[in-house]
Amino acid sequence: MGKNARKTSRLNAKSTYRMSSPKEESLATTADVLGKKMQNFPEPSKTPEAGSARVISVVNQKGGVGKTTTAINLGAALAEVGRRVLLIDFDSQASMTTGLGIKGAALREQYGSIWYLLNDPEAKLEDFILKSSVPGLDFIRGHEDLAAAEAAFVSEIAKEHKLRKLLAPVLDTYDVVLIDCSPSLGTLTVNALTASNGVIIPMECEYFAVLGLSLVKKTIQKIKENTNPQLKILGILATMFERKTSHSREVLELIYKEFPDEVFDTIISRTVRFSESTVAGVPVTSYASSSSGSNSYRRLARELIARGGAK
Ligand SMILES: Nc1ncnc2c1ncn2[C@@H]1O[C@H](COP(=O)(O)OP(=O)(O)OP(=O)(O)O)[C@@H](O)[C@H]1O
Ligand SMILES: [Mg+2]
Repeated sequence: MGKNARKTSRLNAKSTYRMSSPKEESLATTADVLGKKMQNFPEPSKTPEAGSARVISVVNQKGGVGKTTTAINLGAALAEVGRRVLLIDFDSQASMTTGLGIKGAALREQYGSIWYLLNDPEAKLEDFILKSSVPGLDFIRGHEDLAAAEAAFVSEIAKEHKLRKLLAPVLDTYDVVLIDCSPSLGTLTVNALTASNGVIIPMECEYFAVLGLSLVKKTIQKIKENTNPQLKILGILATMFERKTSHSREVLELIYKEFPDEVFDTIISRTVRFSESTVAGVPVTSYASSSSGSNSYRRLARELIARGGAK
Protein backbone atom coordinates (compact mmCIF):
# COMPACT_ATOMS: atom_id res chain seq x y z
CA MET A 1 0.00 0.00 0.00
CA GLY A 2 1.45 3.42 -0.98
CA LYS A 3 1.90 6.48 1.23
CA ASN A 4 -1.21 8.20 -0.14
CA ALA A 5 -3.34 5.11 0.34
CA ARG A 6 -2.33 4.96 4.00
CA LYS A 7 -3.37 8.57 4.37
CA THR A 8 -6.80 7.70 2.96
CA SER A 9 -7.19 4.73 5.29
CA ARG A 10 -6.98 7.02 8.30
CA LEU A 11 -10.31 8.51 7.21
CA ASN A 12 -12.00 5.31 8.29
CA ALA A 13 -15.22 5.34 10.24
CA LYS A 14 -15.15 5.36 14.02
CA SER A 15 -17.40 3.21 16.18
CA THR A 16 -19.79 5.62 17.85
CA TYR A 17 -22.79 3.38 18.23
CA ARG A 18 -24.93 3.07 21.29
CA MET A 19 -26.37 -0.04 22.90
CA SER A 20 -29.64 -1.34 21.55
CA SER A 21 -32.70 -2.57 23.36
CA PRO A 22 -32.60 -6.34 23.91
CA LYS A 23 -36.27 -6.63 22.88
CA GLU A 24 -36.78 -8.38 19.54
CA GLU A 25 -39.94 -7.32 17.76
CA SER A 26 -41.76 -9.74 15.46
CA LEU A 27 -40.82 -9.38 11.81
CA ALA A 28 -43.27 -8.78 8.98
CA THR A 29 -42.81 -11.15 6.02
CA THR A 30 -44.53 -11.43 2.65
CA ALA A 31 -45.92 -14.86 3.61
CA ASP A 32 -47.22 -13.53 6.90
CA VAL A 33 -48.87 -10.43 5.39
CA LEU A 34 -50.39 -12.25 2.39
CA GLY A 35 -51.40 -15.38 4.30
CA LYS A 36 -49.02 -17.73 2.43
CA LYS A 37 -46.98 -20.62 3.77
CA MET A 38 -44.35 -19.48 6.27
CA GLN A 39 -40.75 -19.68 5.10
CA ASN A 40 -37.59 -20.29 7.11
CA PHE A 41 -34.07 -19.65 5.93
CA PRO A 42 -31.29 -21.63 7.61
CA GLU A 43 -28.24 -20.12 9.28
CA PRO A 44 -25.67 -20.07 6.47
CA SER A 45 -22.48 -22.09 6.70
CA LYS A 46 -19.63 -20.14 8.28
CA THR A 47 -17.39 -21.09 5.37
CA PRO A 48 -18.79 -19.73 2.13
CA GLU A 49 -18.03 -21.64 -1.06
CA ALA A 50 -14.71 -20.77 -2.69
CA GLY A 51 -14.48 -18.65 -5.81
CA SER A 52 -14.81 -15.05 -6.74
CA ALA A 53 -17.25 -12.58 -5.20
CA ARG A 54 -20.86 -12.25 -6.30
CA VAL A 55 -21.38 -8.68 -7.43
CA ILE A 56 -24.81 -7.26 -6.60
CA SER A 57 -26.21 -3.88 -7.62
CA VAL A 58 -28.87 -2.24 -5.48
CA VAL A 59 -30.96 -0.40 -8.06
CA ASN A 60 -34.10 1.66 -8.42
CA GLN A 61 -34.37 4.90 -10.40
CA LYS A 62 -36.85 6.18 -7.83
CA GLY A 63 -35.20 8.19 -5.05
CA GLY A 64 -35.45 7.51 -1.33
CA VAL A 65 -36.70 3.92 -1.52
CA GLY A 66 -34.03 2.38 0.73
CA LYS A 67 -31.19 1.51 -1.70
CA THR A 68 -28.41 2.91 0.47
CA THR A 69 -29.98 1.59 3.67
CA THR A 70 -30.22 -1.84 2.06
CA ALA A 71 -26.65 -1.84 0.75
CA ILE A 72 -25.18 -0.84 4.14
CA ASN A 73 -27.31 -3.09 6.33
CA LEU A 74 -27.43 -6.15 4.08
CA GLY A 75 -23.65 -5.76 3.80
CA ALA A 76 -23.29 -5.60 7.59
CA ALA A 77 -25.60 -8.62 8.04
CA LEU A 78 -23.57 -10.63 5.50
CA ALA A 79 -20.35 -9.65 7.30
CA GLU A 80 -21.87 -10.89 10.59
CA VAL A 81 -22.21 -14.37 9.08
CA GLY A 82 -18.59 -14.41 8.04
CA ARG A 83 -18.80 -13.03 4.51
CA ARG A 84 -16.07 -10.69 3.31
CA VAL A 85 -18.07 -7.77 1.94
CA LEU A 86 -17.03 -4.77 -0.16
CA LEU A 87 -19.46 -1.87 -0.55
CA ILE A 88 -19.12 0.57 -3.44
CA ASP A 89 -20.69 4.01 -3.06
CA PHE A 90 -21.72 4.66 -6.65
CA ASP A 91 -23.91 7.70 -6.04
CA SER A 92 -22.82 11.35 -6.16
CA GLN A 93 -24.91 12.00 -3.03
CA ALA A 94 -22.34 9.80 -1.20
CA SER A 95 -25.01 8.81 1.34
CA MET A 96 -23.43 5.41 1.90
CA THR A 97 -20.09 7.02 2.72
CA THR A 98 -21.85 9.32 5.21
CA GLY A 99 -23.79 6.38 6.64
CA LEU A 100 -20.48 4.65 7.32
CA GLY A 101 -19.24 7.57 9.39
CA ILE A 102 -17.25 9.73 6.94
CA LYS A 103 -18.14 13.40 7.18
CA GLY A 104 -16.86 16.95 6.61
CA ALA A 105 -13.53 17.49 4.87
CA ALA A 106 -12.92 13.75 4.51
CA LEU A 107 -16.17 13.40 2.56
CA ARG A 108 -15.20 16.27 0.24
CA GLU A 109 -11.80 14.80 -0.59
CA GLN A 110 -11.87 13.43 -4.11
CA TYR A 111 -8.64 11.45 -3.76
CA GLY A 112 -9.36 7.77 -3.21
CA SER A 113 -13.07 8.00 -4.06
CA ILE A 114 -14.68 5.84 -6.72
CA TRP A 115 -14.75 8.90 -9.01
CA TYR A 116 -10.98 9.30 -8.59
CA LEU A 117 -10.49 5.60 -9.36
CA LEU A 118 -12.62 5.75 -12.49
CA ASN A 119 -10.54 8.62 -13.82
CA ASP A 120 -7.00 7.57 -13.05
CA PRO A 121 -5.92 4.58 -15.17
CA GLU A 122 -2.88 4.08 -12.87
CA ALA A 123 -4.93 3.90 -9.64
CA LYS A 124 -5.63 0.47 -8.19
CA LEU A 125 -8.89 -0.01 -6.32
CA GLU A 126 -7.25 -2.36 -3.79
CA ASP A 127 -5.09 0.54 -2.52
CA PHE A 128 -8.11 2.62 -1.52
CA ILE A 129 -10.31 0.16 0.34
CA LEU A 130 -11.49 1.50 3.69
CA LYS A 131 -12.50 -0.53 6.72
CA SER A 132 -15.88 0.19 8.33
CA SER A 133 -16.55 -0.23 12.05
CA VAL A 134 -17.95 -3.71 11.28
CA PRO A 135 -15.32 -6.47 10.93
CA GLY A 136 -15.40 -7.89 7.40
CA LEU A 137 -17.27 -4.88 5.95
CA ASP A 138 -15.05 -2.74 3.70
CA PHE A 139 -15.93 0.08 1.36
CA ILE A 140 -14.89 2.48 -1.38
CA ARG A 141 -15.92 6.08 -0.82
CA GLY A 142 -18.30 8.01 -3.05
CA HIS A 143 -17.83 11.63 -4.09
CA GLU A 144 -20.12 14.42 -5.31
CA ASP A 145 -18.08 14.84 -8.51
CA LEU A 146 -19.43 11.46 -9.64
CA ALA A 147 -22.35 13.55 -10.91
CA ALA A 148 -20.11 14.55 -13.83
CA ALA A 149 -19.76 10.97 -15.04
CA GLU A 150 -22.66 11.06 -17.50
CA ALA A 151 -21.05 13.88 -19.47
CA ALA A 152 -17.43 12.85 -18.90
CA PHE A 153 -17.79 9.29 -20.21
CA VAL A 154 -19.98 10.11 -23.18
CA SER A 155 -17.33 9.70 -25.89
CA GLU A 156 -15.32 6.91 -24.23
CA ILE A 157 -15.06 3.51 -25.87
CA ALA A 158 -16.46 0.66 -23.73
CA LYS A 159 -17.60 3.19 -21.13
CA GLU A 160 -20.15 0.67 -19.81
CA HIS A 161 -17.32 -1.63 -18.67
CA LYS A 162 -15.28 0.82 -16.59
CA LEU A 163 -16.49 -0.37 -13.17
CA ARG A 164 -16.32 -4.06 -14.12
CA LYS A 165 -12.64 -3.64 -15.05
CA LEU A 166 -11.89 -1.70 -11.89
CA LEU A 167 -13.43 -4.39 -9.67
CA ALA A 168 -11.88 -7.42 -11.40
CA PRO A 169 -8.62 -7.52 -9.35
CA VAL A 170 -10.41 -7.63 -5.96
CA LEU A 171 -13.09 -10.23 -6.73
CA ASP A 172 -11.05 -13.07 -5.24
CA THR A 173 -10.60 -11.16 -1.98
CA TYR A 174 -14.34 -10.88 -1.27
CA ASP A 175 -17.45 -13.06 -1.09
CA VAL A 176 -19.89 -10.28 -1.93
CA VAL A 177 -19.56 -6.85 -3.56
CA LEU A 178 -22.59 -4.58 -3.11
CA ILE A 179 -22.94 -1.51 -5.34
CA ASP A 180 -25.16 1.29 -4.05
CA CYS A 181 -26.55 2.98 -7.18
CA SER A 182 -27.91 6.49 -7.67
CA PRO A 183 -31.60 7.14 -8.36
CA SER A 184 -31.18 7.11 -12.14
CA LEU A 185 -30.73 4.58 -14.91
CA GLY A 186 -27.91 6.49 -16.61
CA THR A 187 -24.25 5.69 -17.39
CA LEU A 188 -23.28 4.95 -13.78
CA THR A 189 -26.10 2.48 -13.21
CA VAL A 190 -25.40 0.86 -16.59
CA ASN A 191 -21.77 0.46 -15.39
CA ALA A 192 -22.96 -1.10 -12.12
CA LEU A 193 -25.31 -3.52 -13.90
CA THR A 194 -22.63 -4.46 -16.42
CA ALA A 195 -20.29 -5.33 -13.52
CA SER A 196 -22.91 -7.36 -11.62
CA ASN A 197 -24.10 -10.94 -11.33
CA GLY A 198 -27.39 -9.88 -9.80
CA VAL A 199 -29.70 -7.01 -8.89
CA ILE A 200 -31.71 -6.26 -5.76
CA ILE A 201 -34.54 -3.78 -6.29
CA PRO A 202 -35.71 -2.10 -3.07
CA MET A 203 -39.25 -0.80 -3.43
CA GLU A 204 -41.06 1.47 -1.03
CA CYS A 205 -44.52 0.11 -0.19
CA GLU A 206 -46.26 2.98 -1.89
CA TYR A 207 -48.41 2.92 -5.04
CA PHE A 208 -46.27 5.15 -7.33
CA ALA A 209 -43.28 2.92 -6.65
CA VAL A 210 -45.01 0.00 -8.38
CA LEU A 211 -45.33 2.01 -11.58
CA GLY A 212 -41.54 2.52 -11.74
CA LEU A 213 -40.74 -1.18 -11.47
CA SER A 214 -41.35 -1.97 -15.13
CA LEU A 215 -38.79 0.70 -16.13
CA VAL A 216 -36.11 -0.94 -13.93
CA LYS A 217 -36.96 -4.32 -15.44
CA LYS A 218 -36.75 -2.92 -18.99
CA THR A 219 -33.28 -1.50 -18.25
CA ILE A 220 -32.13 -4.86 -16.85
CA GLN A 221 -33.41 -6.57 -20.00
CA LYS A 222 -31.45 -4.11 -22.17
CA ILE A 223 -28.27 -4.76 -20.16
CA LYS A 224 -28.77 -8.53 -20.62
CA GLU A 225 -29.09 -8.06 -24.36
CA ASN A 226 -26.12 -5.72 -24.71
CA THR A 227 -23.40 -5.81 -22.07
CA ASN A 228 -24.09 -8.56 -19.53
CA PRO A 229 -26.18 -11.63 -20.57
CA GLN A 230 -25.73 -13.37 -17.18
CA LEU A 231 -27.39 -10.58 -15.13
CA LYS A 232 -30.20 -11.84 -12.86
CA ILE A 233 -32.84 -10.15 -10.75
CA LEU A 234 -32.18 -11.57 -7.27
CA GLY A 235 -35.27 -10.05 -5.77
CA ILE A 236 -37.60 -7.13 -5.18
CA LEU A 237 -37.41 -5.95 -1.58
CA ALA A 238 -40.46 -4.29 -0.03
CA THR A 239 -39.23 -1.45 2.21
CA MET A 240 -40.80 1.08 4.59
CA PHE A 241 -43.66 -1.33 5.15
CA GLU A 242 -46.32 -0.18 7.61
CA ARG A 243 -48.18 -3.05 9.19
CA LYS A 244 -50.96 -0.82 10.45
CA THR A 245 -51.97 0.59 7.05
CA SER A 246 -53.93 -1.34 4.45
CA HIS A 247 -52.09 0.63 1.72
CA SER A 248 -48.77 -1.12 2.46
CA ARG A 249 -50.48 -4.52 2.27
CA GLU A 250 -52.28 -3.62 -0.98
CA VAL A 251 -49.02 -2.53 -2.61
CA LEU A 252 -47.34 -5.75 -1.47
CA GLU A 253 -50.25 -7.76 -2.91
CA LEU A 254 -49.91 -5.91 -6.19
CA ILE A 255 -46.18 -6.56 -6.62
CA TYR A 256 -46.56 -10.15 -5.47
CA LYS A 257 -49.31 -10.72 -8.04
CA GLU A 258 -47.11 -9.34 -10.82
CA PHE A 259 -43.73 -10.76 -9.72
CA PRO A 260 -44.46 -13.78 -7.46
CA ASP A 261 -41.02 -15.36 -7.89
CA GLU A 262 -39.08 -12.15 -7.43
CA VAL A 263 -40.51 -10.59 -4.28
CA PHE A 264 -38.34 -11.40 -1.26
CA ASP A 265 -40.21 -13.03 1.59
CA THR A 266 -38.31 -10.67 3.90
CA ILE A 267 -39.89 -7.23 4.27
CA ILE A 268 -38.27 -4.15 5.77
CA SER A 269 -40.69 -2.26 8.02
CA ARG A 270 -40.66 1.49 8.50
CA THR A 271 -38.68 2.47 11.59
CA VAL A 272 -36.83 5.58 12.68
CA ARG A 273 -33.85 3.42 13.69
CA PHE A 274 -32.51 3.61 10.11
CA SER A 275 -32.27 7.42 10.04
CA GLU A 276 -30.82 7.40 13.56
CA SER A 277 -28.12 4.92 12.61
CA THR A 278 -27.18 7.04 9.56
CA VAL A 279 -26.62 10.02 11.86
CA ALA A 280 -24.52 7.79 14.14
CA GLY A 281 -22.51 6.70 11.06
CA VAL A 282 -22.89 2.94 11.63
CA PRO A 283 -25.16 0.18 10.27
CA VAL A 284 -28.39 -0.39 12.18
CA THR A 285 -27.07 -3.86 13.07
CA SER A 286 -24.49 -2.07 15.27
CA TYR A 287 -26.66 0.88 16.40
CA ALA A 288 -29.70 -1.13 17.47
CA SER A 289 -28.56 -4.70 17.17
CA SER A 290 -31.71 -6.48 18.31
CA SER A 291 -34.21 -4.11 16.65
CA SER A 292 -36.63 -5.40 14.02
CA GLY A 293 -34.73 -3.43 11.36
CA SER A 294 -31.49 -5.28 12.17
CA ASN A 295 -33.19 -8.65 12.31
CA SER A 296 -34.97 -8.04 9.00
CA TYR A 297 -31.67 -7.36 7.24
CA ARG A 298 -30.16 -10.47 8.90
CA ARG A 299 -33.12 -12.46 7.59
CA LEU A 300 -32.62 -10.91 4.13
CA ALA A 301 -28.97 -12.02 4.21
CA ARG A 302 -30.07 -15.60 5.01
CA GLU A 303 -32.75 -15.50 2.30
CA LEU A 304 -30.30 -14.15 -0.28
CA ILE A 305 -27.82 -16.94 0.48
CA ALA A 306 -30.60 -19.58 0.48
CA ARG A 307 -31.74 -18.33 -2.94
CA GLY A 308 -28.18 -18.57 -4.28
CA GLY A 309 -27.85 -14.81 -4.79
CA ALA A 310 -24.83 -14.65 -2.46
CA LYS A 311 -22.48 -17.41 -1.31
N1 LIG B 1 -37.30 0.92 6.40
C1 LIG B 1 -37.15 2.22 6.63
N2 LIG B 1 -37.89 2.86 7.57
C2 LIG B 1 -37.75 4.17 7.81
N3 LIG B 1 -36.87 4.96 7.19
C3 LIG B 1 -36.10 4.39 6.25
C4 LIG B 1 -36.18 3.00 5.91
N4 LIG B 1 -35.28 2.75 4.95
C5 LIG B 1 -34.67 3.90 4.68
N5 LIG B 1 -35.14 4.90 5.46
C6 LIG B 1 -34.76 6.30 5.47
O1 LIG B 1 -35.30 6.89 4.29
C7 LIG B 1 -34.37 7.77 3.70
C8 LIG B 1 -34.04 7.28 2.28
O2 LIG B 1 -33.41 6.00 2.39
P1 LIG B 1 -32.14 5.63 1.51
O3 LIG B 1 -31.16 6.75 1.53
O4 LIG B 1 -31.70 4.29 1.89
O5 LIG B 1 -32.85 5.58 0.08
P2 LIG B 1 -32.16 5.58 -1.36
O6 LIG B 1 -33.05 4.80 -2.25
O7 LIG B 1 -30.76 5.18 -1.26
O8 LIG B 1 -32.24 7.13 -1.72
P3 LIG B 1 -31.53 7.85 -3.00
O9 LIG B 1 -32.35 7.42 -4.17
O10 LIG B 1 -31.64 9.30 -2.70
O11 LIG B 1 -30.13 7.33 -3.07
C9 LIG B 1 -33.18 7.82 4.63
O12 LIG B 1 -33.34 8.90 5.50
C10 LIG B 1 -33.27 6.51 5.40
O13 LIG B 1 -32.70 6.59 6.70
MG1 LIG C 1 -29.02 6.16 -1.89
